[in-house]
Formats: sequence, C-alpha cells, structure tokens
Amino acid sequence: MQWNYDDFTRAFFELTKIDLSCYKERQMKRRIDSLINRHNYKHYEDYYRALVTDKVMLTTFIDYITINVSEFYRNSNQWDTLKSDIIPMLLEKHDSLKIWSAACSTGEEPYSLAMVLQDFLPLNRVKIIATDIDREVLRKAKEGIYLEKALQSLPKSYIDRYFTVKDDLYIIDENIKKNVEFRQHNLLMDPYPKGCHLIICRNVLIYFTEETKNQLYLKFRESLESNGVLFVGSTEHIIFPQKYGFESVRTFFYKKIQEE
Ligand SMILES: C[S@@+](CC[C@H](N)C(=O)[O-])C[C@H]1O[C@@H](n2cnc3c(N)ncnc32)[C@H](O)[C@@H]1O
Repeated sequence: MQWNYDDFTRAFFELTKIDLSCYKERQMKRRIDSLINRHNYKHYEDYYRALVTDKVMLTTFIDYITINVSEFYRNSNQWDTLKSDIIPMLLEKHDSLKIWSAACSTGEEPYSLAMVLQDFLPLNRVKIIATDIDREVLRKAKEGIYLEKALQSLPKSYIDRYFTVKDDLYIIDENIKKNVEFRQHNLLMDPYPKGCHLIICRNVLIYFTEETKNQLYLKFRESLESNGVLFVGSTEHIIFPQKYGFESVRTFFYKKIQEE
C-alpha cells in the first residue's frame, strides 16, 4: 500500500527525531508536497528513500521545512520595550543574567541581544545560549557574516559599532560573537536549559499545533527562574497566560508567576 503523509512523518521521525506531527499539518504538508513535486518524486515513500541515501538532500529538506528567515532587531518596537522596560526590570533583581534564545536560526536574535545588553552590563556577567534544531543555520550563525538586508531593522549605531563591512558583507564583531554559545537543540524533545532569567522564542511557535504549543509554554516556565520573562513573536500572543503560570507584563512579554 502506498504511504500517506502520516507514514512519511513516522518514518521521518525515526530517521531524524524531528516530529512533523507537532507542526500544523495543512501548512507543513503543503510545503512537503510541493517540494516532492518539484523534485519529480511521485510518492512519499520514494522521496523518503532518497532522503535516507542522500545526505545533501536530507540537509536541504530539513533547511526547507524549518523556515529559517530571521533579521537583527526584528520588530524593533519589541526590542525597544525589551531595552526600556524588561532588561532594567530583570537587573533590579539580578546582577548577572542567563538568557536563552530558542530557535535562533542564523544568529541574528542572540547577537542583537548581546549588542543591547552590552549597554547595561559587562558581557562576562551574561550567559547567552542560542539553540536551533537545524545544524546548517547554526553553522552560519557561528560564522557571523550577513547580507545588508538582515540588518535593515537594526539601529545604525549598532551597525557602526559592531560590524565590519567587506565586499557588501557585514561581519560581526568578535567580542559580540564570543559571548553567544550556539548549540543544536530540538524544542520538541531535548531537555531545556534551567535557571533562565529571559527566554526569547520568536516566530517558531506559530508553526506548531495548539497542543504542542501548550506543552512548550509549560516547559519554558520550568526553565525560567521566578519572575523570569518569556519573549514571544509578534503573532504569538498567549491567550490565557495564567493557564501556564505566566502573567503578561508588556505585549509579547510574559513573566513567570512566583511560586507559592
Ligand atoms: C522563522 S525562524 C525564527 C528565527 C528567530 N527566532 C526570529 O524570530 O527571527 C524559525 C526557526 O525555528 C527553528 N525550528 C523549527 N522547529 C524547531 C524545533 N523543533 N526545535 C528547535 N528549533 C526549531 C528553525 O530551524 C528556524 O531556524
């Protein structure tokens, strides 16, 4: 019998430990079907066999389904709020910070963080862990070389301070780079870092099913210190934050409610 989408996702999970059934099906299936067509495969099973034998094809496929678009200082208003309200609030209580940038893609988000934090405290008092499921984006993140369009929302003062331009490429300052620790991490199955004061997880939750999202909010809560903050993307409002032990402190920022 011919494989259906569920057969493909089950086999793909065995192969990669990426559980496609946690992603919204309509969207993911449409993307996968169109890729299979483009590569001239007729059935899920043929395509899967090709992924098993061809490493390059598998990497390209993972890169394609994970959707890696990112940008420095993406949705600048929210970064301004982070700077004016959230970081000062965290520093009232802590003199060093542990921060996790989850699903960081090619590094624009954790590097933006390091730049912003540099104005508040020496970076040796900040630990920034940046993770993503996709090894290829992490490789690019570690390189720290960007096209101009990735910097379009970043205030000019940061560009002047933290980049060198060479042949139209923007190379990030070593000092910023060495303060971000990149690791591969699957939000759906790997253990989460503990003791975080701030977690930034933006523009990935939208791809997950409601059920998966609900589980991830609870896991983020576990990762945070009391009063720690979760910063989400601009289409990722949490409807009833109390349900997961959070309260909204600003739009897109949720504080872990103190445990009794
Ligand atoms: C659209 S990018 C968001 C990048 C950045 N956070 C931003 O907002 O600009 C989504 C990222 O989520 C990552 N991702 C998708 N599924 C994941 C998973 N299960 N665990 C960890 N990262 C995942 C993708 O590889 C991709 O780099």
